[in-house]
Amino acid sequence: MKSEVNNMDLMTKIRKNTATLHSAAEHTGFIKRIVDGHACKDTYAEYLFNLHFMYKAIEETIEKNKDNKVVQEFATTELYKSELIKKDLEFLLGDKLETMELLPSTSTFINRIKEIDNSNSELIVAYAYTRFIADLFGGRTFVALLAVNYKVAAEGLNYYKCDGVKDIRAYVMNYANKINNMNLSVELEAKLINEVSNAYIYNLAISCELEAKLHSN
Ligand code: HEM
Repeated sequence: MKSEVNNMDLMTKIRKNTATLHSAAEHTGFIKRIVDGHACKDTYAEYLFNLHFMYKAIEETIEKNKDNKVVQEFATTELYKSELIKKDLEFLLGDKLETMELLPSTSTFINRIKEIDNSNSELIVAYAYTRFIADLFGGRTFVALLAVNYKVAAEGLNYYKCDGVKDIRAYVMNYANKINNMNLSVELEAKLINEVSNAYIYNLAISCELEAKLHSN
């Protein structure tokens, strides 16, 4: 059984290891609330505010570590979202943006990204993969949902733009190949697999914390 796992490529190992966490991310917390139609424009904006700082941390760490050959491969600016989300926030929140505060789960996430920046910067790929590839798959469903169910105007939906990716399937396959060709040591590969789980856990925490906060309002 163990040798079966050893023979798998890295992408397959990651997918197998996180299949249940993906299901949890899809079916709990604020994500579930949006899908079920129990959110509103303001609560969506609060979610987006936290996402903005997640993406900013990921993108800045990738850019900062581009001299690392492994990280360099994942400087996929066509997938970067922080600037697009900023536009949405300015449209959705206006002056209210100044008074918003990050969730503690998001601050914890940002601290973890700083630790990665100061240790094994290759591990940032775990976070890039989890957010950017999720956007390619789930993005199109969400944009329709937000426009129809929550009446979010096009000016507030820049996040879902992905003009730089024409063929999503081919792009994701190429991204998976890049992960498979990272050429990490056995020890670092194990850390990366673990870090993808961490990426899901942080995303789950943010989603669940926001949901709990909205319940208590
Ligand atoms: C309503 C919420 C969601 C839906 C409907 C959804 C749906 C999907 C679908 C259909 C795929 C493609 C699976 C395949 O082709 O094999 C996918 C992949 C993926 N999703 Fe989600 N997802 C959701 C939320 C999330 C969240 C919250 C995250 C993490 C933050 C996430 C991370 C990913 C990742 C990393 C992949 C790529 C997996 C791979 O490489 O095979 N998803 N998702």
